[in-house]
Amino acid sequence: MRKKVTVIGAGNVGATLAQRLAETDLADVVLVDVAEGVPQGKALDLAESGPILGYDSRLIGTNGYDDTAGSDVIIITAGLARKPGMSRDDLLAANGDIVKACATESGSRSPKAVMIVVTNPMDVMAFVAMKATGFPRERVFGMGGVLDSARFRTFIAMEMNVSVENTHAFVLGGHGDTMVPLPRFSTVAGIPITELLSTDRINKLVERTRNGGAEIVSLLKTGSAYYAPSAAALEMVEAVLLDKKKILPCSALLEGEYGVKGVFAGIPVKLGAKGIEQFVEVKLNAEENAGFMRSVEAVKSGCAKFM
Ligand SMILES: NC(=O)c1ccc[n+]([C@@H]2O[C@H](COP(=O)([O-])OP(=O)(O)OC[C@H]3O[C@@H](n4cnc5c(N)ncnc54)[C@H](O)[C@@H]3O)[C@@H](O)[C@H]2O)c1
Repeated sequence: MRKKVTVIGAGNVGATLAQRLAETDLADVVLVDVAEGVPQGKALDLAESGPILGYDSRLIGTNGYDDTAGSDVIIITAGLARKPGMSRDDLLAANGDIVKACATESGSRSPKAVMIVVTNPMDVMAFVAMKATGFPRERVFGMGGVLDSARFRTFIAMEMNVSVENTHAFVLGGHGDTMVPLPRFSTVAGIPITELLSTDRINKLVERTRNGGAEIVSLLKTGSAYYAPSAAALEMVEAVLLDKKKILPCSALLEGEYGVKGVFAGIPVKLGAKGIEQFVEVKLNAEENAGFMRSVEAVKSGCAKFM
């Protein structure tokens, strides 16, 4: 049996993710959106790329949820994207209703699925999805850290003129303006960047990472980033479908880890077929911990609106 992945939201992130998924040939893909004709048209267009690119993934586009039944992985990208000058939190109320409906409809038809939330403000939306489905915390988590650390890695590679493959970066906390990039755990060929770059240069890279989403929003004028976000979501889906046991920064419900309880925040987790298979704790210094706690507080106040 081929694996089945449902992507909810056939906009920029969702459709690009569906394309990336089809091109891996790892699963059949169901693309869901409220806009009539859009998921159907994009799914057909993607199916017609198969003969040229050499994939057999079946693609279904739909405005309903029946075709999503029995999915192994569900990714929620449905919602409104940020516009220039708009913070992720401005999206809170509108996207909360959308994510609740998408999670409920899809979760009830695929009760064993792993659910990955992309819609912003992502950490709060992951909380909304978990509440709506009643899934355990191992099977509902959010995409943010993989994207944020990819941005940090890109900027480190640009700064040092090295291959991005030589870089590794660590970003903790909520996926928002309070995210916590950790230079101490970010490396080039295994060497911490704190030994390779001045504090001043590192601070500039950290700042650019924090504003990575906004930088693209202001360039695009309409809409927000989707190439790197869809690539980041794909890495997480692949880790689950292939049971890779890959450690990636994801937004997970903390139940005592890092001294925090009942809040979603980005931490390293081990992803495999069961979803989150380990919640990884690293020892933070006082400054890192203070940044992490600030970030957790920001997510907590967003979640309070959905308690
Ligand atoms: N977590 C991250 O790192 C990250 C990165 C990029 C984007 N995002 C977020 O992802 C979301 C999608 O971004 P995008 O660029 O694809 O936006 P987009 O506007 O291109 O696509 C969103 C799609 O959702 C659909 N939609 C709206 N309500 C729906 C519903 N109830 N059911 C099904 N579909 C529905 C819309 O019709 C649209 O096609 C936004 O909230 C954005 O902020 C998050």
